[in-house]
Amino acid sequence: MALIITNLTKKYNTQKPALTDYSININKGVLGLLGPNGAGKSTLMKIIATISKPSSGTLLLDGADIVQKPDTIRKVLGYLPQDFGVYPNLNAYEFLEYIAAMKGIGGKRLRQRIDLLLEGVNLTADAKRPIGTYSGGMKQRIGIAQALLNDPKVLIFDEPTVGLDPEERMRFRQLISDLAHDCIIILSSHIVSDIETIADEVAIMQDGKLITHAPQYDIIKQAEGRIFEVLLETNTLNQFKNQYKVIDTARQSDRIKVRYISTKDNVAPESISVTATLEDAYLFLTHKNG
Ligand SMILES: Nc1ncnc2c1ncn2[C@@H]1O[C@H](COP(=O)(O)OP(=O)(O)O)[C@@H](O)[C@H]1O
Ligand SMILES: [Mg+2]
Repeated sequence: MALIITNLTKKYNTQKPALTDYSININKGVLGLLGPNGAGKSTLMKIIATISKPSSGTLLLDGADIVQKPDTIRKVLGYLPQDFGVYPNLNAYEFLEYIAAMKGIGGKRLRQRIDLLLEGVNLTADAKRPIGTYSGGMKQRIGIAQALLNDPKVLIFDEPTVGLDPEERMRFRQLISDLAHDCIIILSSHIVSDIETIADEVAIMQDGKLITHAPQYDIIKQAEGRIFEVLLETNTLNQFKNQYKVIDTARQSDRIKVRYISTKDNVAPESISVTATLEDAYLFLTHKNG
């Protein structure tokens, strides 16, 4: 299964396009879409989900044009929108049955499938309660379950980990890795750590453009040798920030430990070179292009 996106541009009624000449090849596995708010992640996902039409460009799923023939992807699609509205008076069972009916899923095994999904998102005990009484994390989990109803081959989750607590995040990760074998899974986030543990490949977006798309390991490699740490007197931090791109700071007794981006021949005295993380690479790459 492969999704090939070529020269995709999306203009809303604004000056600046939300996506500009965006091309990417997506194969099976988990792709993490990473980018600051406004980068165009949701726009891209809506276009893949055929909720929104591109201004120009092509999207081919195994050779079939999904803009001309949206049914080719809709049949195999699971989609969790960023703003997922629910029906407050339905309970989890009723809601999933309703979504199943809308998607044309029925038959003897539906009940079984719903039970399995509720188990998977840990909502079995609350399945008879109206969704209106759910917490934010529980609503998000019912959203994840509805995306999985039809045993999808293309799964799109827009900011799925928003509102999930650490345990729920772990469960979500588990669910994704159970599903990942034969599907295309696209997850978006503006938080690096959400993507870090789940995604095989990462695509970094900024201002409607693709900055890089590679396996996580290769993305991190791009920042190698560019990340440093130094201990500073607290009152020199502001001046330091004028000179270097600071990633992170942490108090260390009466001084401050600063993690920053630079080049080997332009480091502050007594700096040490440190191993880059995905977070470092993300900030390095978006800083470089910003
Ligand atoms: N329906 C819309 N009408 C006009 N502009 C929009 C609309 N949706 C998104 N945008 C704009 O498109 C850009 C990309 O937005 P979006 O795709 O939501 O980014 P992200 O999901 O990465 O935060 C932003 O500048 C946003 O304001
Ligand atoms: Mg978004």
